[in-house]
Amino acid sequence: MLDASRRWRAQGLKVGLVPTMGALHAGHLSLIKAARAENEVVVVSIFVNPIQFGPGEDFARYPRDPAHDEGLLSSAGVDAVYRPSVATMYPPGAGTRVRVSGVADPLEGAARPGHFEGVATVVSKLFTAVEPDRAYFGQKDAQQAAVVRRLARDLDFPVEIRVCDTVREADGLALSSRNAYLDPDERRAAASLSAALRLASAAYAGGERRQDQLLKVLCGRLEAEPLARVEYAEVVDPETFTPPGTLAVLAVRIGKTRLIDNHDLSKVFPG
Ligand code: PAJ
Repeated sequence: MLDASRRWRAQGLKVGLVPTMGALHAGHLSLIKAARAENEVVVVSIFVNPIQFGPGEDFARYPRDPAHDEGLLSSAGVDAVYRPSVATMYPPGAGTRVRVSGVADPLEGAARPGHFEGVATVVSKLFTAVEPDRAYFGQKDAQQAAVVRRLARDLDFPVEIRVCDTVREADGLALSSRNAYLDPDERRAAASLSAALRLASAAYAGGERRQDQLLKVLCGRLEAEPLARVEYAEVVDPETFTPPGTLAVLAVRIGKTRLIDNHDLSKVFPG
C-alpha cells in the first residue's frame, strides 16, 4: 500500500483515507464521498481490529460481508482498498500500544477499557501504512474523532483529520453496523436515542441552558423506553468530553446491543 501511496503523492496527487471495519453503510459512504470531493485518490481500509474489542464484546460476531462491501466500494469510485490481515497488523510478538490520555479517558474510555488504545494503535498503523494527506472520520463516534485528532497532533502525523456529519435513518437512528443486531421491537426502541437528542436540542433552542435540566430531558425520554438501559448520558465540552458543554453524548443498551449517539445541542437536530 505504501509504495502505491508514495507514487501517487510523488505525482502531486492528494490521498484521502477512510478507515473502516467493513459492513459498509451510508454513513461510511458519506465519508468516502467527502474524501472523493477533496482528494484525487481515495483509499478505504477494511480491518476488524481485534484489539479495540474488549473480552466479552462482539469481535467474533461483528458483521463481515466482503461481497456487499466490494459492491458498494466499486460503485463509490474508490481507488484502492487496503485489507490487511490480523497477522500483518499484529504479527507474533507485537506488543506496542498507543495510549492517548485526557480526551480518551471519560465516557467511552471509561466504559470500554482498552478500546481507545486499540483504536489509537490501529489508526497509527494505518497512517503509517498509507501516509494519507487527509483522513475521514464520522461525528457518530465523536469521542473517537477527538482521540484521533489528539493522536495525530501528538505523534506529528502529517495528516489533516476531517470529521463528517452523522448519517441517520428516517426516524433519526444513527446508521451503525451494529444496528443489524436489533430485532424489530429493539429497532423501534433504538429510535429513543435520537428522540432524546432531538428533545434536548429543542429545550436548548427554547432557552434552557441548565446542564441538569438538559440531562433530565435526555434521560426522561430514554427512561420512557422499556427496552433501553442507559449506560451513560452526559452533556460535555466537545473538545475535552467533560461537563459542562453543549455536546450531548449517549451510550444505551437496547437488549444486548450497545448503541452510541451524540448531538451538539446548540444546533438544530436534523430531520
Ligand atoms: P467503523 O465503525 O466501521 O466506522 C468507520 C467510520 O465510519 C468511523 O469514522 C465512524 O465514525 C464512521 N461512521 C459510522 N457510522 C456513521 C454514521 N452513521 N454517519 C457518519 N459516519 C459514520 O469506527 C471504526 O470503524 C473503527 O473504530 C476504526 C476507526 C476503523 C478503527 O478501527
